[in-house]
Amino acid sequence: MIERFLCFVWERLINYELLIINYELMRRIKIVDLLNSTKFGEPVCIKGWVRTRRGSKQVAFVAVNDGSTIHNIQVVIDIAQFDEEILKDITTGACICISGTLVASQGQGQAAEIQAKEIEVYGKADPAVYPLQKKGHSLEFLREIAHLRPRTNTFGAVFRIRHYLAFAIHEYFNKQGFFYFHTPIITGSDAEGAGSMFQVSTLDLNHAPVTADGKIDYAQDFFGKHTNLTVSGQLEGELGALALGGIYTFGPTFRAENSNTPRHVAEFWMIEPEVAFYDITDNMDLAEDFLKYVISYVMEKGKDDIAFLNNLYDKELIERLNFVLNNRFIRLTYTEGIEILEKCGKKFEFPVYWGADLQSEHERFLVEEHFKCPVILTDYPKDIKSFYMKQNDDGKTVRGMDVLFPKIGEIIGGSERESDYDKLLKRIEELNMSMDSLWWYLETRKFGTAPHAGFGLGFERLIMFLTGMSNIRDVIPFPRTPKNAEF
Ligand code: 4AD
Ligand code: MG
Repeated sequence: MIERFLCFVWERLINYELLIINYELMRRIKIVDLLNSTKFGEPVCIKGWVRTRRGSKQVAFVAVNDGSTIHNIQVVIDIAQFDEEILKDITTGACICISGTLVASQGQGQAAEIQAKEIEVYGKADPAVYPLQKKGHSLEFLREIAHLRPRTNTFGAVFRIRHYLAFAIHEYFNKQGFFYFHTPIITGSDAEGAGSMFQVSTLDLNHAPVTADGKIDYAQDFFGKHTNLTVSGQLEGELGALALGGIYTFGPTFRAENSNTPRHVAEFWMIEPEVAFYDITDNMDLAEDFLKYVISYVMEKGKDDIAFLNNLYDKELIERLNFVLNNRFIRLTYTEGIEILEKCGKKFEFPVYWGADLQSEHERFLVEEHFKCPVILTDYPKDIKSFYMKQNDDGKTVRGMDVLFPKIGEIIGGSERESDYDKLLKRIEELNMSMDSLWWYLETRKFGTAPHAGFGLGFERLIMFLTGMSNIRDVIPFPRTPKNAEF
């Protein structure tokens, strides 16, 4: 009761300006903290961008967002108390600083709003040219203004979720006793042997030095050899695992594949745990436990953002996330998977036969239509997988594993590694790979080799799953795709 009375007096004092408050000296409060506050009557200061403005001749209601939450705070402006000059600049997109009193909200929605006392406009946004007007922009249009799209509700939500996920990943591995191991971004080796790499060079393309046989002389290049941006940190990660026991990498990777699909970008982030003494079963257990941990962390931390995306884009998002959390992933071999696909009677665009590389349509059939559950496929034909995978006794398959998710297809690729020196060397020779760039990798098998396994999670693919976004270009702030590196 007394508290209420004091609050009432405090509010009167402020309203009648009997109490002198130096708003300029006030600390900015984040909107996320303010929306949960019930300290009504207290002076507050917020800074953010105007989302919408509506009202009448007497009063303006301005929704402000500062990026700390999907929710806006409503600022109530008594028009008579402010200069026309300032008020005209409070338009969608403008950046403003508001000092005023926190009051209980009259309308529905948030509990608190602000009665403005002082307004400063940091940056105007001319309504005639500011591209982000109220709502209804397509995701395609927003991709063209990637420099401004983080200011929309959708991208605010996606990029906050991206952050929560990154944090959860570090937290998971730290708790499990894994060490964060930094692998190089510029490398002389091709980890996947797929050949789609971006070259790194300081040579002048027009006047590059050449060798006697007319080829570019990379000996004269910056590193004295041919180098690329890495496609994976795995090979160096294995060196870490065979010394520290369990490591993970988390860094950017680059692939120059000219595949214009909704699931590929040329620059993406990969998380690659690598563990000594793990076999493929341990590896599958780790992948499943890891995915469930980080998904559940993000669902909790990013609850409001996920609810927003669920309502706007994908009404089954939350249901799908819960489904993955609450079900064991189905594990089966590639060969069993092929049999199911061959017998299912469905017409696929790409043919299904033993030895074929599975396409997204096949993976999604298994996950979405057949098992209706995440799937881990193992023991792939050796010819469609990388040289480092452990060879099975049948001479035909390797101990690889792919984790397949609904709507996404492959989200993780990994394997138990070939730890036998002779078998690995034979495979490298069979594939005509360059020993010049792999001698150091082979030495791990020569000295104190150990069984080990690991996998790579595509960070953006998991963000797609968590946000319901159906195009990978919408889960990374500045996507790199063929013919597109504008921002
Ligand atoms: O299956 P990948 O090629 O596996 C590796 O690179 C292994 N070295 C990983 C390991 O065992 N340590 O790639 C791993 C994951 C894929 O499952 C996919 O999620 C993602 O990386 N990925 C891509 N994501 C976006 N754009 C691309 N172009 C991607 N290529 C792969
Ligand atoms: Mg793969």
